[in-house]
Amino acid sequence: MFLKRIQVPDFRVLKNVDITFDPQLEPRVFPLGSQNGGGKSTLLQLVFVLLHCAIDPEKLHLVENLLQGFTVKHGTDWHSLATIEIFDNKFENIKLEYLCYSRQSIRTLLNHQAAQSPYCQNIIVLSPQALLGEIFLACRINASITSDLHAVLKEVAAHTFLAAPSTQIFHFLSLESRKKLFSRSSIEDSGSYIADLKNLQESLPNLFTYDLSLVDTLVNLFREARDRDFSAVVSTGQYGHSYHQILEKMNSALVGKQISSRSDLTGVQFHLDGSNTELQPEDLSHGELKRFSIYIWLTSQNLKDAIVLMDEIEIALHPDWQYQIVHDLVKWGPTNQYILATHSYELCQAVTPAHVKEITPNLLPQTV
Ligand SMILES: Nc1ncnc2c1ncn2[C@@H]1O[C@H](COP(=O)(O)OP(=O)(O)O)[C@@H](O)[C@H]1O
Ligand SMILES: [Mg+2]
Repeated sequence: MFLKRIQVPDFRVLKNVDITFDPQLEPRVFPLGSQNGGGKSTLLQLVFVLLHCAIDPEKLHLVENLLQGFTVKHGTDWHSLATIEIFDNKFENIKLEYLCYSRQSIRTLLNHQAAQSPYCQNIIVLSPQALLGEIFLACRINASITSDLHAVLKEVAAHTFLAAPSTQIFHFLSLESRKKLFSRSSIEDSGSYIADLKNLQESLPNLFTYDLSLVDTLVNLFREARDRDFSAVVSTGQYGHSYHQILEKMNSALVGKQISSRSDLTGVQFHLDGSNTELQPEDLSHGELKRFSIYIWLTSQNLKDAIVLMDEIEIALHPDWQYQIVHDLVKWGPTNQYILATHSYELCQAVTPAHVKEITPNLLPQTV
């Protein structure tokens, strides 16, 4: 799946946004820049919520959280929130127009649909109940799509992912949770922002935060490998090689360090290449852990043919690694498209100028 174009007429800080991504370009890694507060995170979250959450009734409250403060303009029947064009090998060109209707105009739409008016048969009403008491979200899909429209949107949802730091303000968390980010509370506190985010991630596996749950994921991977190896010995008399294979792959993603699991599989340990001395957590840099966690995420979730939206990717990475991460992403998940919200000059150097996208107002040219 490949996101070709995103248009946002007017949503929060985003005004007349129209960004295209050329599917012919290699690598399929696109840095997205703007000034601080220019709307990169807002854009990534809007795309994620529309593509991944809006089709699932269980996740509509996340759309509602994101839309807080958004209204359908008086005197208009509907208001375009965003138009997203995607290319998919199966469905080819998919054009999704996310429209917000007022209570009155949704009634008209539903009447037209009931009367089988041809011009509105390709619109799906996503929110049967009003969001924020007044907005009905619908999606108009290009008429050339003849498959079941829900199935198309579900396929898109399954292939859309968002990664960001856990300290990011996620607009789709509830207002109550977001307010906690500016309140005093410890990370262990069950009432904290981080705790709410972790909770949300249980039901939103396509949302990844670089710095939460790495050890849990690693231990699960080791446990699954151990179980596969044990099944193999039960059925064939020979232990399988899953544990060794997984260890080898993980170590190939580390630079100068090695990982192994604790023998009781309650955690992991790191040591220097060629040494058995265990490293303490502080001996691993934030950047090493971040790079490793991205690798583990992409490979353990088996991301393929996906639209991967990544925010603040360069934070904690040395400039060499900011450059290198483009190649790493392609190596770790070669069939995905990556859209990387970033301020990193080094990262942009790893691709061509045609790859680099900007949200206006344009950044100021550098002055000497
Ligand atoms: N309803 C709104 N209208 C206009 N600007 C808004 C609105 N809500 C938030 N903002 C502004 O949008 C900016 C957030 O942009 P963000 O997406 O985090 O930018 P970036 O990730 O590029 O730094 C903040 O400066 C915030 O004040
Ligand atoms: Mg941001």
